[in-house]
Amino acid sequence: MKVLVTGASGQVGQDLVDVLEGAVPAGGSANFQSSLQGHDFQVVGVSHHDLDVTDSARITNALERIRPDVVINLSAFTAVDRAESEPATAEMVNAAAVGLLSNACEIHNARFITLSTDYVFDGRKGASYVETDTPNPESVYGKSKWHGEQLCSARDTIVRTSWVMGVRGKTVGKVIADRAKSGESVKFVLDQRGSVTVASDLTVALATLALNPPGGTWHVANSGSATWFEVAQEIGRLCGRDDDFVTGIETADLRPQPAAPRPRRSDLDTTKFTQAYFALPDWREALSRFVGGLPA
Ligand SMILES: NC(=O)c1ccc[n+]([C@@H]2O[C@H](COP(=O)([O-])OP(=O)(O)OC[C@H]3O[C@@H](n4cnc5c(N)ncnc54)[C@H](OP(=O)(O)O)[C@@H]3O)[C@@H](O)[C@H]2O)c1
Repeated sequence: MKVLVTGASGQVGQDLVDVLEGAVPAGGSANFQSSLQGHDFQVVGVSHHDLDVTDSARITNALERIRPDVVINLSAFTAVDRAESEPATAEMVNAAAVGLLSNACEIHNARFITLSTDYVFDGRKGASYVETDTPNPESVYGKSKWHGEQLCSARDTIVRTSWVMGVRGKTVGKVIADRAKSGESVKFVLDQRGSVTVASDLTVALATLALNPPGGTWHVANSGSATWFEVAQEIGRLCGRDDDFVTGIETADLRPQPAAPRPRRSDLDTTKFTQAYFALPDWREALSRFVGGLPA
């Protein structure tokens, strides 16, 4: 099974290459990953520099040269607030390039798996989102990811995930842990609820899907949901801080206001994935591994 991973130097990409190679990334769980034992993946991870996914000639060249069975696309323009002022770049990387990759995979007889986001939803449902709920993105980033989904074919596999925290990423989780360890305090919103996803756990799900890509849309996240306030409190606790580390505020009181609107409640219902494969660990247990995996 030969797997080509694009965007391999991103936070999810680095963990995925480790997992496919049979290594346990920092913050990962050998136990959770054990279902992949005995599966032999040949992995080619390419960074933005190696393969710009907006360049169709380079995609064709890579597929002809590498001849993968499966392509897992992790390349994306993920700067959610910056995307508001750079919509053309967001569309090119998050939408047009996904279409190019999907087409090229079809021509070269490779299966295609690509990542999407809870930001395709407006957050007004008032309950967790299932795969069949209608997207209504409000941010440029969310719109571009939804457009990318729409450029996929029925045989492609779309994995929507959310609030990803990778030990090697520049994530909010890392900022919270740094502040907790340096004795500072933080303010986090009480009125945004979502699903935390520790990158190493997500990549076990991605590797499992790569074994026999099912096609269609799948929600994948750690079990349970939380507000950002609860996530910050939990990371503070794991770093040895007590409750006064985090002050809860409302989104409307954030100063400055973020450029991109965030969904109020966009936790992902993962029942479809859980019933077909397995449940990802509870978000608190996953966060404890994430914090434990961070450099001292
Ligand atoms: N992070 C989250 O909270 C989150 C939530 C939901 C879904 N997702 C999705 O999960 C996937 C992986 O995200 P991540 O968190 O690993 O993001 P990341 O750390 O920002 O990684 C994205 C990678 O894509 C690369 N890239 C950007 N433009 C490219 C291009 N034109 N060609 C090839 N590569 C390009 C980036 O390289 P450079 O940095 O060198 O440009 C970077 O290495 C993405 O599809 C993202 O939308 C993430």
